[in-house]
Amino acid sequence: MKCDPSAMNNYPSAHAGFTKIYAETNPPWDIGKPQPPFVTIAEWVVSPVLDAGCGTGGTSLFFAARGEQVTGIDFVEEAIRRARVKAKECGIAVEFLIKDAMTLGEWDKRFASVIDSGLFHIYAGAERQRYVQGLAHVLMPGGRLFLFSFNDDPTWPGGGVSRQELYAAFKNDWDVESLESVGGKVNPAFAAAFPDEFVNKKMWFAIIRRTE
Ligand SMILES: C[S@@+](CC[C@H](N)C(=O)[O-])C[C@H]1O[C@@H](n2cnc3c(N)ncnc32)[C@H](O)[C@@H]1O
Repeated sequence: MKCDPSAMNNYPSAHAGFTKIYAETNPPWDIGKPQPPFVTIAEWVVSPVLDAGCGTGGTSLFFAARGEQVTGIDFVEEAIRRARVKAKECGIAVEFLIKDAMTLGEWDKRFASVIDSGLFHIYAGAERQRYVQGLAHVLMPGGRLFLFSFNDDPTWPGGGVSRQELYAAFKNDWDVESLESVGGKVNPAFAAAFPDEFVNKKMWFAIIRRTE
């Protein structure tokens, strides 16, 4: 299967695009476990934890298995259905909700940590701004966002986020504590459909603190 990430790169088409992908397959990003940097920094992630755009829940389940209190949200029903099945099979308690991350600004829940593994980079312009404002709303002062995002490596066809864009998005109410280039992984079933540059591609991993 070919995956055209640029087709998901704006909000109105994103829901339809993601719904189609989950209906057809186990998506390329779904490796059934967290992307490697989340494992490296696991002890920094403290409860309550929000996994924004949690997909089928691999990262949420990893942190819940470590004893954290985790809420995973995704706007695709099928993704949340699969996440709930996995949680039941593993006997791990996670709150999985069908929820649009664009509505975080109207939510009454608060979190000490937010995981974003592949959501922020989908949106640009006003949508990105709205998402970041929503993150500032749900993160407790002093809480941290752990962000795994495409960088602006030109070999990635869907575009990405430059260092400048990332700092610009998190300039008010935020302190970018670290920003590193890290390796990403894809579901092995899709390796052939992706350029080699992607499989070994450098992604951003940022730890961003909500200032008090
Ligand atoms: C690249 S996938 C990453 C999934 C998961 N975090 C992972 O690492 O496997 C992005 C996820 O964000 C979800 N998503 C995109 N826009 C969203 C929105 N506005 N609200 C909630 N979920 C969204 C998609 O349905 C998809 O599951």
